[in-house]
Formats: sequence, C-alpha cells, structure tokens
Amino acid sequence: MSAADLSGRRIVVSAGPTFEDIDPVRFIGNRSSGKMGFAIAEAAARRGAQVVLVAGPVSLPTPPGLQQRVDVRSARQMREAVIAQLPADVYIGAAAVADYAPAEVAPGKIKKKDEQLTLALVRTPDILAEVAVHARRPTVVVGFAAETHDVEFYARGKLEKKKVDMIAANRVGVSGSGFESDDNALTVYWLDGERALGPAPKTALADQLLDLILARWPA
Ligand code: CTP
Repeated sequence: MSAADLSGRRIVVSAGPTFEDIDPVRFIGNRSSGKMGFAIAEAAARRGAQVVLVAGPVSLPTPPGLQQRVDVRSARQMREAVIAQLPADVYIGAAAVADYAPAEVAPGKIKKKDEQLTLALVRTPDILAEVAVHARRPTVVVGFAAETHDVEFYARGKLEKKKVDMIAANRVGVSGSGFESDDNALTVYWLDGERALGPAPKTALADQLLDLILARWPA
C-alpha cells in the first residue's frame, strides 16, 4: 500500500444501520455501530480516493478527507442516496440494512390495547443487489455478510445471488470482534479465492480490504 494508491478512484461506501419507523417514537433497527464502514471510508480517503460515505443513523464523526457524507435513516433513503452517487469505481456495502420495514408508518404513537400486537412488515430494497446489476454498475461491488454458521456456504451464496465481486464475511464468535467492538475478523470471498483478515483493529482491516480490492482490480 502506498500513500495515494487509490488516487483518481471514486468509491461509495455505505455504513451503519438503518432505522425503519413504526410510529413517531419507535423504529426497527439493528446493532451496527458503523465503525467498519467509517474505517473503510477513512482509509480510502487517506489513500487518495474520492470517497462518498452514505451513513445510516450513527454517532460517529465524519472522517477527514471525504468528498461527501450523506446521512440517511431508512433503507429506502439509503437506496436513493447510493443510487444517486453512481457511477463509481467501487461500491462497498458495509451498512447493515434492515431487511424488513413496517408496511406503513403510524401517523400517531401506537397506544397499547390488546395483549398481542402484530406488525405487518415488507421487504426493503436490496441496495447491494441493485447496484450490482445497475446500468452504471461500479467496476467492483463488495458486500458484507453477518453469518453465525456455515460462513463460506452462505457468503458464496450471496456472491452468486447478488452478483457481487467480493463478500466480506464477519467471523462472529472471534473474541473482541463484532458490532460495537473496535476490532473485527473477516473472511473475504471472491469467485476463485478467499482470504482471512484479522482479528485486527477495524482501521487495519479497512486497509487490508482495500489492498485486496486493488490487487484484484488494478488500475
Ligand atoms: N444489503 C443491502 N440492502 C438490503 C440488505 C442488505 O444492500 N436491503 C447489503 C448489506 O449492505 C451487506 C449485504 O447486503 O453488504 C448483506 O446481505 P444480507 O443478505 O442482508 O446479509 P445478511 O443480513 O447476512 O442476510 P441474511 O439475513 O439473509 O443472512
């Protein structure tokens, strides 16, 4: 890795969770801290790339050197923001996008009445899969996967199903890795190879992931 080895590349990174509103005071969300995606954005900018970071609701400062940070809340908003940034050379989908959202947002606070409450949920748009088949598809599309078991089987399944170039699977169960942690362990899969990265600080993993991308898709 050299100082400006990503110079001239346009990289779009999504990071953080999405929140899907139920009513004005409640939402469905997930435990993503956004740290991995923010670390990737920061590393890419430091290495000379033009970086756009599309961030879900997180409490993280904007890394230095970004071209733009776009803050969004829901999966739908994240999709709009990401698609609006195409074309790009690389898309890295590090966001933990909610897979389902309430079919409708109640205009007022839902009051408790019955013993049971059933919420109707609908699938959110799959941003990664859409970017991967878009007319302005980036040269390299990288997704993340959170798997608890059969990591390679599911990660390779996503590679094929979502038509992406690389899947970085979180190795859960490794001590010190995970949502809020500053450390993580990834296994990155592509069509004819794989590489285990870490356990290491997310900042170091970000550089190693960018190295892998550069090695496979040189300028
Ligand atoms: N993703 C996305 N849009 C969604 C859902 C996921 O872009 N609506 C992206 C994420 O940014 C991540 C990858 O897809 O790069 C994760 O894929 P997904 O199939 O959601 O992973 P898991 O949550 O691990 O899937 P599952 O729940 O099916 O195991």
